[in-house]
Amino acid sequence: TSQKLWGGRFTGANDPLMDAINVSVHFDRRLYGADILGSIAYSKALAKNHIISPSERDSLVTGLQQVLQEWDDNKFVLQPADEDIHTANERRLGEIVGSVAGKLHTGRSRNDQVATDMRIWVREEASKLLANLKELIAVAVNRAEREIDVLMPGYTHMQRAQPIRWSHLLLSYAWFWQNDADRLAQYIHRMNVLPLGSGALAGNPFDIDRDFLATELEFRGVVPNSLLGVSDRDFVAEFLFWASLVMIHVSRFAEDMIIYSTSEFGFVQLADTYRRSLRDTNDSIAIVTLPRPPADQSYLSNPPPPSTGSSLMPQKKNPDSLELLRGKSGRVFGQMSGFMMTYKGTPSTYNKDLQEDKEPVFDAVDTLSVSLQITAGVLSTLTIRPDKMRAGLSHDMLATDLAEYLVRKGVPFRETHHIAGAAVKLAEERGTSMAHLNLSDFQDLHPAFVDDVTEVWDFERSVEQRSTQGGTSEKSVRDQIEKLREWLKQG
Ligand code: ARG
Repeated sequence: TSQKLWGGRFTGANDPLMDAINVSVHFDRRLYGADILGSIAYSKALAKNHIISPSERDSLVTGLQQVLQEWDDNKFVLQPADEDIHTANERRLGEIVGSVAGKLHTGRSRNDQVATDMRIWVREEASKLLANLKELIAVAVNRAEREIDVLMPGYTHMQRAQPIRWSHLLLSYAWFWQNDADRLAQYIHRMNVLPLGSGALAGNPFDIDRDFLATELEFRGVVPNSLLGVSDRDFVAEFLFWASLVMIHVSRFAEDMIIYSTSEFGFVQLADTYRRSLRDTNDSIAIVTLPRPPADQSYLSNPPPPSTGSSLMPQKKNPDSLELLRGKSGRVFGQMSGFMMTYKGTPSTYNKDLQEDKEPVFDAVDTLSVSLQITAGVLSTLTIRPDKMRAGLSHDMLATDLAEYLVRKGVPFRETHHIAGAAVKLAEERGTSMAHLNLSDFQDLHPAFVDDVTEVWDFERSVEQRSTQGGTSEKSVRDQIEKLREWLKQG
C-alpha cells in the first residue's frame, strides 16, 4: 500500500516533522527551576482554597522538590512524549506521587504557566547580568583611577579634536554601562508582575488567590487582565532591546579599542591571552565564571583568546576578542528583531507563535553574559602606550584654548574663534606649529594677545581648564570615579 505523503497527522500518528517543529523541551528545559517554583506556589494556593487537601499539597510539594533535585543533579530523564518543560515536569511528578499529580493543573493552563515561568527566569538571569555589568564597570573605574595622568587626543568625526584624559574616555563607557544597569533595574520592576491565575485566557474559575501567588513567587503584583496575562510578551521584547543597547555600548567600545590598537594609532595593546595575564594583574575581579553552557552551545565554555595571529601574515596580531564583541552585537539585534516580527503577527491571547520567544532570550542572555565578561577581561589586561597617546597631541588641538585665552581677555567668543582660525592658518602657511609663532604674529591678529599666550601651549593646562562637572580635568574625573564607586557599593 502506498503511504500518503502527508498522511501522518490525519491517520493519528504524529508526523515526525510536526513533532520536530512543535517540541520545545530541548531548549525550554532551561526553565525547569522556574516551572517547579511556580507549581509549588500553585499547589499551596490550591490547598489554601481547599481545592486539594493539606496532605495532597504536601505530597505535591515534596514530589516537585524531588523533580527539581533530579534536574539539578542532571538525573532527569526526558521521555519521547515530553513536549515541553511543563509536560515533562508534570509527567515526572505523576510517576513520583501518583494520581494526585493530576490535581496540580486545576484551573491553570500552560498559557499562564509559561508566561509566569519566563518572567521568573528572565528576572533571575537579569540579576546575574547586572553582576556582570558591575564587574565591568569596576574594571573601567579601577583603570581610570590608575591611569588618570595619561593624556590622549579626544576625537570627533574621527578627527583629533581636543586633549582629554584617557580615564575620561574609560569613564564615558563606565557611565554607559551604569545607565544600562539602571535601565535593567527599572525593567525588572516593570515586568515583575504575575500572569499566573489568568487561566487559559478568561481567568481562574477557582477563585485562586493571585496576591498570595504573587507574594510566594516574589512578584510585586499581578497582571491586571487575564487576556493580557497570557498575551503579553512585552517583557521579552523589552529585555531584547535592553540587551541590544548594552551590546551597542560593548560594540562601540570594541570599535574604539580596535582603532586604537592599530599600528597607525598604537595607543593600546591587547594581551595575548587575557586569561594568562589576568593572573599577572592585581585586578581582583572574577572574570572567569562562565554560565553553564546549554548542551548544544559548548563553544560558550571555551571562548577564544582576545587576539590571534594571522595564518598567512606573521607580523599580524588580530584583535579577535574585540571583533567578536562587535560582531556579537549584530547577533543580539537579530534576536530582538526576529522576535518582534513573530510577536507583531499574533492575535490576542496565547498563540503557539509565542513559543518562539524563548530561544532569542536564551541566546541573548548567553551572548551578553559571555560578552560582558570578555569585555571586562580585555579591558583589565590591555596595556596602554602613554607615549603614543601623547605623541598624538598637537598644538592645533589647542586652537579652542587659544580662542578661550582671548575670551578671558574680554574678546567676544565669535570673534576669538575667527582669530584662532587665522592663527591655525598662519602656522600652516609657515609650515610650523602655532606654539612657534611670535608674540608679534599674535598681536597682528589681535592686540589683546600678550606674552602669557605661551601658557596656552600646554596640554595639561588645557585639560585642567575643563574642570566643570563632567569635564576632563583631574578633579572632574576623580569626582566621576567617586560617584561610580559610590554607586557600585550600593550594590
Ligand atoms: N511550550 C509552550 C510555549 O512555550 C507552552 C504553552 C503551550 N500552550 C498551549 N496552549 N499549547 O509557549
